[in-house]
Amino acid sequence: MCGIVGYIGTRNCVPVILEGLRRLEYRGYDSAGIALVRDKEFFIQKKAGKVSNLAAALGEAEGTVFATLGMGHTRWATHGEPSDINAHPHWDQKKRIALVHNGIVENYQAIKTKLLRDGHTFLGATDTEVLAHLVGVMYDECRDLPTAVRLALSEVDGTYGLVVIAKDDPGRIVAARKGSPLLIGVGDGENFIASDASAIVEHTRKVVYLDDGEVADITTSGVRTMTIDDVTVEKPIHQVTLELSQIERGGYDHFMLKEIHEQPETILNAMRGRLLVEEGDVKLGGLQNIIGRLLSARRLILTACGTSWHAALVGEYMFEQIARIPTEVEYASEFRYRDPIVNIDDVVFLISQSGETADTLSALRDAKTKGATVLGIVNVVGSSIARESDGGVYAHAGPEIGVASTKAFTSQLTVLALITILLARVRGMSRERGQVLARELATLPDKVQTILKETEKIRKIAEEFKDAKNFLYLGRGANFPVALEGALKLKEISYIHAEGYPAAEMKHGPIALIDENMPVVFIVPKDGIYDKVVSNIQEVRARRGRIIAVANEDDTDIDELAEFVIRVPRTYGFFGPILNIIPLQLLAYYIAVARGTNVDQPRNLAKSVTVE
Ligand code: G6P
Repeated sequence: MCGIVGYIGTRNCVPVILEGLRRLEYRGYDSAGIALVRDKEFFIQKKAGKVSNLAAALGEAEGTVFATLGMGHTRWATHGEPSDINAHPHWDQKKRIALVHNGIVENYQAIKTKLLRDGHTFLGATDTEVLAHLVGVMYDECRDLPTAVRLALSEVDGTYGLVVIAKDDPGRIVAARKGSPLLIGVGDGENFIASDASAIVEHTRKVVYLDDGEVADITTSGVRTMTIDDVTVEKPIHQVTLELSQIERGGYDHFMLKEIHEQPETILNAMRGRLLVEEGDVKLGGLQNIIGRLLSARRLILTACGTSWHAALVGEYMFEQIARIPTEVEYASEFRYRDPIVNIDDVVFLISQSGETADTLSALRDAKTKGATVLGIVNVVGSSIARESDGGVYAHAGPEIGVASTKAFTSQLTVLALITILLARVRGMSRERGQVLARELATLPDKVQTILKETEKIRKIAEEFKDAKNFLYLGRGANFPVALEGALKLKEISYIHAEGYPAAEMKHGPIALIDENMPVVFIVPKDGIYDKVVSNIQEVRARRGRIIAVANEDDTDIDELAEFVIRVPRTYGFFGPILNIIPLQLLAYYIAVARGTNVDQPRNLAKSVTVE
């Protein structure tokens, strides 16, 4: 979703900002813009489409315009179509201040009506332009940018990550946050502002995370942080460990392919130092202080969005089957608005790659207000969910750039498996049983490596089905969420309509769709319900559906039943999703490539959804 990068210092900020915007492209956006201050005048350029359009519009300027204060933005449209006019930055009425904004001003219509009455004119349709005008009005009155921003925000309902500059005050950047992430990069005689560390990590690793309700006054010599009511806040400086190589493609055609291939390593990283094979146990530092509450929890609630919600569904199988704790799973967007019954002895897990998803963050706050213990399973270190949770476990997948989540998903599942073993042990599972599970979990990185050898076969299957109009994905037990996730991967990046179903539910509806044109992907490991799934396969065969099976290496019967078979090693049923999703990620990837779509930045999608 929208991205922000800003700079104040002594060097030319144009390449810093354009490169920062390129690093933010993965978040998903549909227009981009830049504002620079030179000789107390603004230079603003805004373009619909990609950052490359903006750079082209700047033309020669990319190398020749010199400015030491500026900011850039990538916009993911909410209010108003993606266009040059609606792109940020926006000016106020007198073109004295420029502003970029992530989030939504919910009461913008009321503010706009009042400003129109006062003679303001608006060029576009965005809520942000209204906010820029409001800050401009305040700036006219007080002539002090931090004060103007604070006063304007006291009239605003909604969410924001906001950066403002004034052409007649080129010594400062003012930023404010409520619900949309912002961090300040602390340099030597220069400072940065960004919505995501990847935009600035090549310049500095020292960052200050702004919290909700805070405003920052950033100059070349320092940063003053205050609340909206002007109470100074002392903020700690954090060290970002992100490596530049982690946010580059490293020889792969797409980030998504790189991230799929990283999974043997990222799954291992999720377990490293945590899985104690000999003890048959798990050590998770982020849960140590609340282990008592986990022990006495009467119910676990897992809540998340998108792919992370699919991880939650698998988590439910793990928690209930192995740890025997009643578990519920709910979309965060539903959880937050239905006033759920949450007890103080409930433990609520928030699962999120980015740690910034607006609905998941709100669900966290709601559960916290109701007295529950809230724990994060988060990938991005220092993100809002990580910071607001009572504890939690990082996924340690490293930066995920491809919009379609892959390695973060398998790391989330690995973390859920670790928590499951931990919970089961504290609730009485024997050391021997713990050892058996831990030993198997430790084999998964190698098993993923084995699956990646199927790549060429999967690429050929993708060629065969690249023109399909629909796909059906079917699985049972813990592989039902895998079916949902396989279908999601395909629709996200190839734009083919795909549905995931529990295999046995097929006959209650989707079976009506099956004919010789319908590819049906079955996840069919040799487990206790193998024969049941085979019956479902027969039902599809009888209607001439085309069957692709994800089956175990030693399953000799499946060749008779399926047109295409992708082999995966055996594991325990509840760990199976960590392996079985890998071929489905590759299938979606190669179908998308064959169709020529933008794999890493699919249309309309955002990596991190920071609006409701
Ligand atoms: C967006 C992304 C998905 C992701 C979902 C939840 O829709 O495109 O890939 O699964 O948000 O994101 P989170 O960061 O909370 O896991």
